[in-house]
Amino acid sequence: PASDPELVERARKAKEALGDRLFVLGHHYQRDEVIQFADVTGDSFKLAQQAAARPGAEFIVFCGVHFMAESADILTTDAQKVVLPDLAAGCSMADMATFDQVEECWEALEDAGLADQVIPVTYMNSSADIKAFCGRNGGAVCTSSNARRALDWAFEQGRKVLFLPDQHLGRNTAVLEMGMSLDDCVVWNPHRPDGGLSREQLERARMILWRGHCSVHGRFTAESVDDVRERIPGVNVLVHPECRHEVVLKADHVGSTEHIIKTLEAAPAGSSWAIGTELNLVKRLAQTFPDKNISFLDRTVCYCSTMNRIDLPHLVWALESLVLGDVVNQITVDADTTHWAKVALDRMLALP
Ligand code: 13P
Ligand code: SF4
Repeated sequence: PASDPELVERARKAKEALGDRLFVLGHHYQRDEVIQFADVTGDSFKLAQQAAARPGAEFIVFCGVHFMAESADILTTDAQKVVLPDLAAGCSMADMATFDQVEECWEALEDAGLADQVIPVTYMNSSADIKAFCGRNGGAVCTSSNARRALDWAFEQGRKVLFLPDQHLGRNTAVLEMGMSLDDCVVWNPHRPDGGLSREQLERARMILWRGHCSVHGRFTAESVDDVRERIPGVNVLVHPECRHEVVLKADHVGSTEHIIKTLEAAPAGSSWAIGTELNLVKRLAQTFPDKNISFLDRTVCYCSTMNRIDLPHLVWALESLVLGDVVNQITVDADTTHWAKVALDRMLALP
């Protein structure tokens, strides 16, 4: 549905009143009604870079999910305030790796005499304390647009990688981009004290994948790809690397949200595309490129419910509160966590 014109006007006025004091970031998975007010849109890598590049903005309003706002707080100055318009906008994948669980895993690797060979790498989609854990233990952060480069870096530092929390991104990058075999990867189950793995399996593995996944991308299946190929002859299937390995294997192209957009920009008019990523972005792409036939990979998969928590009423409330001098829903990360998470984030930002 079209945005409520009264709310649109209120958001516009509040943005005008705040001027250069305000910088609004919008992830590609945000609703249209919100994305229209973003000063910059992007994938999580681009948004982290952009947050770090605006030291002059007093308020960063982050239209995305909690771990992204935390990263923005870590990468901005102490004087800058980061606001998440709805605190319920979390991420189910990030919640699948808690600090205590990761510490337990690390202790088990220490007990097995393996920890000094292992470099922990966490996907951006994780809480600040997991990023800090990686920073403290010689590791780094990665996003879906630089996972390969981050893993190349990690294997220069050690012999094995503990990849958190998305098993699919880890497996897809290791097997499809780096030529490892599926046997090089094992999955650590955080609900078992030994991870559900024998010592021999841990010794043999090159990639120890955390048992986490995205509840949206994890719903695309190999059948989704077969069905769309049957429905749309000649279709190009383009999916995000958070999809399961068997889905990515069947697809024609794989890449981050930013990569998906660039691929469609360059695609010839009249070509057909089925996209396996979040629905807000796919709908927007279909509107942006009417000369291409763009459809959603599987019509039974729905929006990311937490991304969708950020709606126009919440954005208006956050902006109008700032105009009145009230910083609502500020996201702050404590100094020690910030220090070590920044070490891990800076290692990512320094990748060639
Ligand atoms: P990217 O923005 O890195 O492509 O990640 C997708 C995602 O699931 C963000 O929550
Ligand atoms: Fe988390 Fe998946 Fe939603 Fe991204 S799309 S915020 S990874 S649940």
